Amino acid sequence: MCGIIGICLRDRSQLPLGEALFRGLLRLEYRGYDSAGIAVIDSSRLHIVKGKGRLDELEARLGFTKKYTGETGIAHTRWATHGQPSDINAHPHVDCSGLFAVVHNGIIENYLEVKEKLESRGHVFKSETDTEVFVHLVEELYRELGDVYSAFKSAIKHIRGAYAILLITPIEPNKIFFAKKDSPLVVGIGSSYNLLASDIPALLDHTRRVVVIRDNWVGYITPSSVFVEDLERGFSVDHEQYAMTVLWSLEDASREGYPHFMLKEIYEQPRALVQTLSGLRSDAVLEQVVSLLVDADNIYITGAGTSYHASEYYAYAMSKLAGRLVIPFIASEYELYEETASNKDVLIAVSQSGETIDVLKAVRAFKKQGCRVVAISNVVDSAIPRESDYAIYMRAGPEIGVAATKTFLTQTLVLGFLAIAYAKSSGDLSEAEYRQILLEDIEGSVKVLGKVIEKVDALARRLVERLSGVKSMYYLSRGVGVPIAREGALKIKEIAYVHAEAYPAGESKHGPIALVEPGYPVVFIVPNDPLLERRILGNIMEMKARGAYSIGVLHEESPLVNSVDYSITVPSLHWVTTPITHTPFLQLLAYHLAVKRGLDPDKPRNLAKTVTVE
Ligand code: AGP
Repeated sequence: MCGIIGICLRDRSQLPLGEALFRGLLRLEYRGYDSAGIAVIDSSRLHIVKGKGRLDELEARLGFTKKYTGETGIAHTRWATHGQPSDINAHPHVDCSGLFAVVHNGIIENYLEVKEKLESRGHVFKSETDTEVFVHLVEELYRELGDVYSAFKSAIKHIRGAYAILLITPIEPNKIFFAKKDSPLVVGIGSSYNLLASDIPALLDHTRRVVVIRDNWVGYITPSSVFVEDLERGFSVDHEQYAMTVLWSLEDASREGYPHFMLKEIYEQPRALVQTLSGLRSDAVLEQVVSLLVDADNIYITGAGTSYHASEYYAYAMSKLAGRLVIPFIASEYELYEETASNKDVLIAVSQSGETIDVLKAVRAFKKQGCRVVAISNVVDSAIPRESDYAIYMRAGPEIGVAATKTFLTQTLVLGFLAIAYAKSSGDLSEAEYRQILLEDIEGSVKVLGKVIEKVDALARRLVERLSGVKSMYYLSRGVGVPIAREGALKIKEIAYVHAEAYPAGESKHGPIALVEPGYPVVFIVPNDPLLERRILGNIMEMKARGAYSIGVLHEESPLVNSVDYSITVPSLHWVTTPITHTPFLQLLAYHLAVKRGLDPDKPRNLAKTVTVE
């Protein structure tokens, strides 16, 4: 939640500072978009502009870019946690003296306690945010210590919680002070100036050399240097050792002519899956992970939202391909299994962002029990892979749309790959079967996916004409189709704001069917599996008998093609490929319905891409 950026120039002729900060915020807008603000140091004074609203509205209303120049500046785009979105609660926040300005991503857990102490010493608070305590704390400690960096470090020691914090002050106008714990922060090392940001795309206009800041690191950047120290261990860090060059381009993180990131990312899926496959083939960790899993007593898998759906798919695949029980659970419910996990068990933690706090907490709890942890993530060096014993990356490239699309397909590819590699290693799949699934079916599905997307896109657009006024829907399936149905329902809920529920089709008779009346849309996900197809047919008939409008996502040779009112056919391949072949239609249905209703699919209300609060 929240995106922050800071730029430290040698002199103002290098860049129009306000404009550069604003452009950086646009690249971070997916992290939060209810309010934003900028602070710059100009003529030895702090200048601040901030307000409630999206960046483009604020630019039109307040003019971030034109009026604000200088050499040093910080900026913030917010997703509210403490205090409503408002002009006053927007960051940056300043202290009583007006000498310090701060932007923060995260939560200061002990802010009430700190605030009380500061108020008793005469500090006056303007906002309802937790962040404001930090800037008053620096002011207080600066009075005592007489040195900005010492005051900043001491203030960090006084707070508990999660933070990526940037601070500027005209007392030391050519520095941006930073600290990080549990919220992401990256330094960008430019050729003649330096930067800080929550995420790499915000830096790519300026540089490709980055240092991912680790937990408990504090320091400052100047236009020509970076100083870092590890606050916990008490020594300075040679940041050069951690510097890396970003290989993907800014274009990878921009819309490339598509009207929305979500659509671009749906169409990008074939390319993303090719990258995932080639990464998996050369990943030395994979073999180690497979033998770890083979030797494990219990295998758990966890994730949130879409990543949980991918986890359920893995549990199904392991059961059917290798006869191995895998226990999937929603990350925020980790306490259910925490006590039973032991050092002979393995937890697979699935998270696109690698930062989801619920997943991180599950990882920490299971590690405490001695359990080994394997992370499946898209973001290299993010918190969850860093805290895990092994990490396998999805290599989907940056996903900017709030809705997970290409990362779901790449997650399920990684997990499907892991399941068949396990089944081969345990002797449940012969070499020939393994090659057939991997080379013919999985690779085959990736090869034809571009065409499939084009075809189902047209079908989704047509269906939206009929569904434009819909209020509620069901998504039903069985077996491997259940997590796909859940994913379809989540997409339409979060992007098109349509109430939708997903159930194993057999459950529909136990209550949900009561809502069905003539015209009620029910989407059936029909995997390529004769047994599941036969059973789903019964459920289609039950729904149709109550007047439901049945929509079927089926394979081309399915005998059920004529049993539904609206059919979407996809290639007939092994059921393992169901997420790849059946999900794009569900994503596109949600996308087109959102657009039809005048909604912005990239920025659904109340949601943020990365959920770093419990
Ligand atoms: C998916 O469309 C959602 N935006 C959300 O459910 C997401 O999958 C969830 O927050 C988990 O995120 P992660 O994969 O980054 O951990």
